[in-house]
Amino acid sequence: MSSEKKILVTGGAGYIGAHTVVELMAAGYDPVVIDNFARSDKTLLDGIKAVTNKPVRFFEGDCCDRDFLSKVFKAVGPISGVLHFAALKSVGESVEKPLEYYKNNVGSLLSLLEVMRENKVEDFIFSSSCTVYGQPDHIPVDESAPFKKAESPYGSTKQVCEKILEDSYRTGFRIISLRYFNPIGAHPSALMGEVPIGTPNNLVPYITQTAAGVRDKLTIFGNDYNTPDGTCIRDFIHVVDLAIAHVKAMEFLANQTEKNLYEVFNLGTGVGVSVLQLIQKFIKVTGVKLPYVIGSRRAGDIEKVYADPSKINQTLKWKTKYTVDDSLLHAWQWEKKIRNLE
Ligand code: WQD
Repeated sequence: MSSEKKILVTGGAGYIGAHTVVELMAAGYDPVVIDNFARSDKTLLDGIKAVTNKPVRFFEGDCCDRDFLSKVFKAVGPISGVLHFAALKSVGESVEKPLEYYKNNVGSLLSLLEVMRENKVEDFIFSSSCTVYGQPDHIPVDESAPFKKAESPYGSTKQVCEKILEDSYRTGFRIISLRYFNPIGAHPSALMGEVPIGTPNNLVPYITQTAAGVRDKLTIFGNDYNTPDGTCIRDFIHVVDLAIAHVKAMEFLANQTEKNLYEVFNLGTGVGVSVLQLIQKFIKVTGVKLPYVIGSRRAGDIEKVYADPSKINQTLKWKTKYTVDDSLLHAWQWEKKIRNLE
């Protein structure tokens, strides 16, 4: 039974973390959030309460601060596992501030693992990314694909973190790295969703803000790629499907008998959708006009990548239940909510 099992969720006030907290509660866990609010605020903590009717316990602080982490572990008492979402994740910003990205993303992982070891907490789920593959030689890409040169310091920090986990799990950890493809959408209740800070880097929040009139048009970054319609192809996965996969991963670890293990799973739908196809889907499911223009390519963009999700489907008995249309509709409903549109 997962009831009363305390799970520490770092970055739990963020987009993916908060949606995962909701699913942990639904599965009977007792999640505790750590967040320094560097890239989030209390909007999604309020959203968790609105969806679950339960306030989530949280500690404000930085995962790089070992003393802070030790205090949290002591205050919370026995912890069954840790979900580590807290990280800086902007590809563009990481190019401008590589040192900050390494310090934060790698430093927080090291501090967390050390404090987990001191407190004999073994089960750990790491937020990784398909960006570790670079441009894969074969798609759909499976977990055996090698790391290629990361397209940004952000992607490199994910590669470095996975290497750290692979080199350290034998010292007393049971670890799963989940390689996210492109998380999109919002909670079906429209009480939670993505809360971008400033101008969105990612496609779907830019689409919904354009549809809401916050942006005057969407620019498609290049339509001269070697794809059927010339635009890049991605694997867009609903954030709630992605959240549920984390609960399945935690349950998997809890059911293992080995003392030490390390597994990596692609977390995607297995379906490739192009940028132009996504735009056309959005217009179809929402009935909203979406002004867009074709611009030049964005540096660092991968041409096409989507997952072979068979390993996670079989091992964790998990598969996506939402379609890309569902994700776009939920994203739009959330955008209308935060903009007080009809
Ligand atoms: C998707 C496609 C753009 C915006 C990144 C990170 C990944 C993860 C998700 C953190 C690309 C095109 C985008 C726009 C566009 N981040 N696009 N106009 O780059 O696949 O993945 O974000 O975990 O690790 O690498 O996502 O949404 O930025 O772009 O044409 O205004 O949409 O060129 O082809 P990406 P994205």
